[in-house]
Amino acid sequence: MKKKRIVSGMRPTGKLHLGHVHGALINWKRLQEGFECFYFIADWHALTSEYANTQIIGESVNDIVIDWISVGLDPEQCTFFVQSQIKEHAELHLIFSMITPLAWLERNPTYKDQLKELSQKDLTTYGFLGYPVLQAADILMYKANGVPVGEDQAPHVELTREIARRFNHLYGRPLFPEPDTLLTPTSKLLGIDRRKMSKSYNNSISLSETDEDLYKKVGQMITDPQRMRRTDPGDPSVCNVYSFHEIYTEKDTVEKIAKECRSAGIGCVECKKIMAQGLNKWLEPVRDKRKALEADMKKVTEIISDGNSRARAIAVETMREVKELIKLA
Ligand code: TRP
Ligand code: SF4
Repeated sequence: MKKKRIVSGMRPTGKLHLGHVHGALINWKRLQEGFECFYFIADWHALTSEYANTQIIGESVNDIVIDWISVGLDPEQCTFFVQSQIKEHAELHLIFSMITPLAWLERNPTYKDQLKELSQKDLTTYGFLGYPVLQAADILMYKANGVPVGEDQAPHVELTREIARRFNHLYGRPLFPEPDTLLTPTSKLLGIDRRKMSKSYNNSISLSETDEDLYKKVGQMITDPQRMRRTDPGDPSVCNVYSFHEIYTEKDTVEKIAKECRSAGIGCVECKKIMAQGLNKWLEPVRDKRKALEADMKKVTEIISDGNSRARAIAVETMREVKELIKLA
């Protein structure tokens, strides 16, 4: 039986961190066996908010593909490509922009949130309002059946379905399937300051962290804010360090730590050291893989250009069908 197809993308704004791993990549990896996966670098999407600081975008492309492979995404099973290398995305975005009512974009909750949250940047641009139209082009270009994304992106997939429906209705043939949202559970891991882990907050632990920096960052992590003194009992259920333990530390040790935290038997300094050891052990093979790939950049470039070719072949065919339907062949 033919595998169903999924598409997902990431904006290239620097090397990846643990938030990306638990908020997306583990899910992407889980899906790679059962689905035909297209994972891409959304560099044009990055431009919508980073238009004044474009250098980071181009610089991050290879790094991110290296991060993907280092955590276990398999370029033999998945297609990795770069959005801006498939010009058909721009063409389909343009056509979709003709049929997308402004009201659909203006009411988008993610759009409204981001305008507020990223208030230091001027996001009142035409391109930023059209962000989900470009995303719909990314997804429908490949006639994806599913889109693995976090909760914040669900409205964009919903809009993609609406655009597909409208296109199919206007041009009289169900060319585009309506893709499902494959929701990734939100990662419990917060940044070292207890806010959402994000590069722009400068609170993230990156995949390419050296072990020295890793110990330093873990040392700075905010724990149970109510626990002021070593003699105060703590509450692991509100402690971000404990959330990391649950993922990176052996189960018996985790249970012991929870007990000793509640009785003030263990101090935060020691507790963090144990966590950093577990995390470091998890990061070691990821770092090794990265080093091997960095020493063989030719291979990385090849993986990307092969992926681009595979994606392009499908995109060209979809655009042929689209132009035929709208009679602009
Ligand atoms: N908007 C997505 C994000 O910020 C990235 C993205 C762009 C995407 N195009 C996509 C995700 C298509 C899924 C499908 O995370
Ligand atoms: Fe968190 Fe560990 Fe400190 Fe308890 S002992 S508050 S789990 S860091």
